[in-house]
Amino acid sequence: MSGAVREAPVFRVEGLTRSYRVGDADVRALAGVDLEIGSGELVVVAGPSGSGKSTLLHLLGALDAPDAGRVFVEGRDLATLGERQRTLLRRRRLGFVFQAFHLVPVLDALENVEYPLVIDGVPRAERRARAAAALDSVGLGERMSHRPDRLSGGERQRVAIARALVHRPRAVLADEPTGNLDSGNALRVFELLAALGREHGATVVVSTHDPELVARAPRVVTLRDGRVARDERRPEAVS
Ligand SMILES: Nc1ncnc2c1ncn2[C@@H]1O[C@H](COP(=O)(O)OP(=O)(O)O)[C@@H](O)[C@H]1O
Ligand SMILES: [Mg+2]
Repeated sequence: MSGAVREAPVFRVEGLTRSYRVGDADVRALAGVDLEIGSGELVVVAGPSGSGKSTLLHLLGALDAPDAGRVFVEGRDLATLGERQRTLLRRRRLGFVFQAFHLVPVLDALENVEYPLVIDGVPRAERRARAAAALDSVGLGERMSHRPDRLSGGERQRVAIARALVHRPRAVLADEPTGNLDSGNALRVFELLAALGREHGATVVVSTHDPELVARAPRVVTLRDGRVARDERRPEAVS
């Protein structure tokens, strides 16, 4: 027997099913998804509106629970974790980026990025330094004292990316992070996610229906009607 223990994939899902009750009908958002995502991978989840992308990312991120099937994060079955453990997993191991940015309007850029570290009890001097470094890494070193309403859409999303990465998560889940951006900013935000993921060794899962981004992804999982219609690896794609 070899002594080597194979590292668990960052995400593994089996038979994932999730329906929503709408009136007296069940809308099936996911209908049996199996998927494995390894350490440091960049994966684009593609598919038309309503195909189940957001539902999948919410389940991967322990923001929602499936009706059937299992979600393993770093080998741990989410169904075996209590609410407190799920909260800690989201807070310490994962980072989230959403289409609508979700920045706190009364906080400036630095305070927004610092916020996850405040919750985690990181001492002030250290968290200021880490938040400033994260903002530098997204090209916003000069905008740290700006509140979100003084930043452009692309800049706001870059603040959200800095916030998602500041606690050095194992994986970042970005749900249509470029949905509110023009194509130039969309590309910049995507490439930034890809580059920072590489730099931090973080797994990055990005949902989008933008063909420009899909074309740049080394792996594309395409959903259709809540199923994986295609899972394509393209090592030659340079993000
Ligand atoms: N909270 C909800 N209540 C009812 N139906 C929902 C809800 N969220 C998603 N759905 C439905 O589930 C399906 C998949 O949605 P979603 O995961 O948001 O897809 P996508 O992100 O690819 O647009 C769609 O038919 C959508 O209308
Ligand atoms: Mg969606």
